[in-house]
Amino acid sequence: MPSPAQVPLRSALRAWVYDRVIAGMTATWYRHVLARLPTGARILDVGIGTGAALARCADVVRAKGLGVVGLDIDRDYLACCQAALGRAGLTGHVTPVLGSVYDHRGGPYDAVYFSASLMLLPDPAAAIAHVASLLSPDGRLYSTQTFHHHRSPLLEWAKPLAQHVTTIHFGRVTYEHEFRKAFADAGVELEELSTMRSTRYSSYRLAVARVPDAA
Ligand SMILES: C[S@@+](CC[C@H](N)C(=O)[O-])C[C@H]1O[C@@H](n2cnc3c(N)ncnc32)[C@H](O)[C@@H]1O
Repeated sequence: MPSPAQVPLRSALRAWVYDRVIAGMTATWYRHVLARLPTGARILDVGIGTGAALARCADVVRAKGLGVVGLDIDRDYLACCQAALGRAGLTGHVTPVLGSVYDHRGGPYDAVYFSASLMLLPDPAAAIAHVASLLSPDGRLYSTQTFHHHRSPLLEWAKPLAQHVTTIHFGRVTYEHEFRKAFADAGVELEELSTMRSTRYSSYRLAVARVPDAA
């Protein structure tokens, strides 16, 4: 991984676009989830990206003394993430790690969090099952993301196209039944699926899940 001082121009540009388009919205989602975590919690942030969303919540991370492992497969984003964490004074709280969720060995974690990163994975159920095995006995899995209320073939076609233009991986258009199925297939119980914000066509939702035999 390049050091923050060596971030190539293309990487910095990709991160800049990401931060302008997405991070403002997902920072609000992070805040919803971090507010629920106990003091001193150990967290796995799957797909930390540029770290901009988490950095905007630096006050909560510090006040609660949270310890975060920030995982991502994108070198460009992770290089910028290190710099963002430094600027936010989070270097002692957040450790960026280059790697895929499917290969990650770590924990135990009190919380595993997917912010806009679960349903863009090639096999969400396998990812859920794997991270569930890294949770502490009373740990929880959190996910925040956009849901679409009605099927939209146009959006399903346009989303991958938007990735080519912006370089941001928006993932697939997600409907509630597919999301629920991923958890059911993983054998992980979806305890809560609440709405943070809703419009006529879509909603931003927060999911909380647990391993059935755990507390
Ligand atoms: C839409 S971004 C979300 C970034 C951040 N969590 C936020 O909410 O602002 C999704 C992130 O997931 C990462 N990602 C994709 N596949 C992954 C994998 N297999 N393991 C870990 N991260 C992955 C992408 O590189 C990207 O940074």
